[in-house]
Order: sequence, then structure tokens, then C-alpha cells
Amino acid sequence: MLKDISINLNNFFLSVSDAIDLSSPQISTHQMRVAYLSWLLAKKMKLPLERLKQIYIAALFHDIGALDPSDKLLLHRFEEKDLFRHCLRGERLFLSIPFLRPMAPIVRHHHTSWATWQKNGYHIEDPYVLESQLIYLADLVERLLDRREYVLHQTNRIIARIIEAAGQEIHPEVVDIFLDMAKRASCWLDLVSPRLYSILLNHGPLERVEIGLEDIAQLAAFFSKIIDFKSRFTSTHSTGVAACATILAHICALTEQEVLLMKIAGNLHDLGKLVIPNTILEKPGPLTPQEFAIIKQHTYHTYMILSSIEGFTQIAEWAAFHHEKLDGSGYPFGLTADRLSLGARIMAVADIFTALIERRPYRKEMSKKEVTEILKRQAQKGLLDSYIVKLLLENYQEVYTKVSEQQQIAQEKFQEYLQLPIVSMAQDNNVPHLPKQPVFLPQGPRWPRDLHR
Ligand SMILES: [Fe+2]
Ligand SMILES: [Fe+2]
Ligand SMILES: [Fe+2]
Repeated sequence: MLKDISINLNNFFLSVSDAIDLSSPQISTHQMRVAYLSWLLAKKMKLPLERLKQIYIAALFHDIGALDPSDKLLLHRFEEKDLFRHCLRGERLFLSIPFLRPMAPIVRHHHTSWATWQKNGYHIEDPYVLESQLIYLADLVERLLDRREYVLHQTNRIIARIIEAAGQEIHPEVVDIFLDMAKRASCWLDLVSPRLYSILLNHGPLERVEIGLEDIAQLAAFFSKIIDFKSRFTSTHSTGVAACATILAHICALTEQEVLLMKIAGNLHDLGKLVIPNTILEKPGPLTPQEFAIIKQHTYHTYMILSSIEGFTQIAEWAAFHHEKLDGSGYPFGLTADRLSLGARIMAVADIFTALIERRPYRKEMSKKEVTEILKRQAQKGLLDSYIVKLLLENYQEVYTKVSEQQQIAQEKFQEYLQLPIVSMAQDNNVPHLPKQPVFLPQGPRWPRDLHR
């Protein structure tokens, strides 16, 4: 019987959102800031709490479909020509997880202008229209901010631009709510505060919740796609490591609960790779010592991100110690055997095994003979746990087949995301059909008419 574990969901979402935006200093905390602004606007409109939470979660991950960090930079500089591709990908990613499915249309339409909604016969009261308009506005404000300039010196310029957007890009009443909010200096100061994370953690709309391990596993699988799809060379790596760690955990007779925790840890083990530039991840040759030094920080970030989540202590260790070696020669912590638990040892073996059977920019996938030799040598040198290596080699075919099967599925998904049609902003006159009834969203006072009565 699986026990649910209690995690701080707000903490989890904030940490992952933060990690996604770490890929470039120009966009760091972009999604968190957009979530902050959207949350404030939704609060000002007195939207029901459930609706407010959905807006907040959608905003925290609204640009999740911009897989490559260079796409994100283009978006940020208003240079992206293919604005809707990341919206479509984001929608598909949200649709793949039951927990996030209700927010998928919001993500899909966060760049849909008010004029487009109107042209297609939608009203601000229709489901998802207000939600996506709030994020549209918040996103625009955040991108208009010049990070080199003091925030309160730019508010007039930003406000003027938002006033221009009223009626065409953004519903006028949404703009009015923003103008009211923008009078408060503290909103702007919060927005750029290095303490924004704790402001949202302590005062944001999501509370500490009991969430089932199965739900966490689904969310972890979802976030593993964001990590893997960052580069085509890693497009199935976390999926493979999670599959391998799960089988090894089974073989090592871990409990059902521990096996699931291993799967979660496997899916998140390279979370810190979000910080590593693709030029290094995709380099078609061996890395220089300087480049390797940059790679070394990825497990440090995995640890820092995961260990900051309440309830994730074990997952953080199992995930982040996969480059540690039993003799203390690993990175980034240089831990020795006495600090490396069975879970961490399994993950180290799973990571190496999966990497060896994968193709890399500079080499082909390795044969069974080559993989066996490398693993045995590392075990003999006292780097990897020899018992786990022995179990893996005894079950080689089974492990290989299961890992490859899972990677094949992930690869097909990746191709699907890559092949999304290119829809330019000008072409997007057809807002796809949205449910006319708020199927997912709880009924509450409809904004703005009911509130203005
Ligand atoms: Fe966007
Ligand atoms: Fe954005
Ligand atoms: Fe790694």
C-alpha cells in the first residue's frame, strides 16, 4: 500500500518554474514574475480561489513550450516570429497530465489578443478568456521591464504601453484593473525583488497539500520532458534513467514506495541541466576542462532545487548524487561511500548505463560488450557499487529492453512536439474551439459583469 507523502505543492511548483528560467540570466524568474502579476490581478478581481490557483499555476509554467533556451530569449526580446508554437507545445504538455489538464487552454491562449477573441465571437466571461488575458498582460509587463534600469524609473513607460494595448491586445477592463494595481510602488518592488520566491511561497495562493505519490510521479515525468526536450541529444535521457533506476530498485528488493520514489528521482536527476547552455550539451566532441567545469554544476542545482522542496529530502539525495563516486572522487559534493545510500548508488549505475547505451553528439551508442567492460572497470576501481553492477549485468537484457521501450515512447513524443505546425501570429485568426461551458473551472461570479452590477 502506497502512503501519500505530504509535500508543499507551492514550493515544488515555484522551484521547478525557477529552475526552468535559470537557463539564461535575461529571463531568470520570468514565469515567477508573470505568476505574481497574474495572481495580483486575479485577486483584485476577487476571482474565486480555485480559479485564482489555476491562473497562478498556468502562469508559473506558461512558457514551458519554449523548449530551447534560445527560443525563450527570442520570446523575451519580442523577436519571436513563431509565437504560437510554444503556446501549442505548452498546451500539449499540460494536456498530458491530468492534474494540469484544466489549465491547458489558458497556456494555449496566453498570446491570443483580445481582438482575436472578439473576432471569433468570444466574450470576456467565456471560460479561459479572462485567464489567458491576465497572463497576456502580465507577460507583456514583465517583458517590457528593462532589467538594467531601476524599476520605479520605468513604470510610466510600461503603463503607457499597456494603455496603448487596451481594446486591441487586452480587454479594456483588464487594463483598468492593472492601472489601479500599478499605482502601488510595492507591487513593482515585489516584482523585481530577489525575495519574490519567498513572497509567493508564504503568501501565494497554493497551500501545503497532501498529494499522492502517484500524482508526484506524474508531475515528475512531466518535468522530465522539459529537461530532456531541451536538446535532441538528451531527449530521452531522464526517461531512460527513471526506467533503469526503477527496475534496479525492484531487483534490489526495495519497497513499492521506494521504487516509486526512485522513479521520481530518476525523472528529476538532471533537473540542473536546465542551467547548462545547449552549446555545451550538444558539442560534437570531447569537452574542454572549462566546459566540463560548467557541466559539473548541474547536479549541484538539482540538489539545491529539490532539497528546497519540503518533503523531498530523500528524492533530492537519490537524484542529485548520481555523479558522486564511492571513493569520494565524484562531483559536486565529493561524498564517500558512508554518505551514499542504496538509492544514490542505484541512480549512479542507472545514469551511466543509460548514457552508454544512448547516442551522443560525439559517439554512437555502445555495444553490450563495451557497456559491460566499462561498468565492471568502474566497480573494480571502487567508483560504482559492485553489487548493483553485478545485478544489472545478470539482468542485462531485461533492463536494456525496458529502458529502450520507455525511451522509444519518449522519442515519439519528442518528434510529435518538434513537428508542431508553424502558425504565425497573423494567421492565428481561428481560435480553436473552446468549451462554451466552464467544464473544468468551478462556477463563481463571472467577471466583470456580475461584479459590476
Ligand atoms: Fe509566451
Ligand atoms: Fe512569457
Ligand atoms: Fe547528470
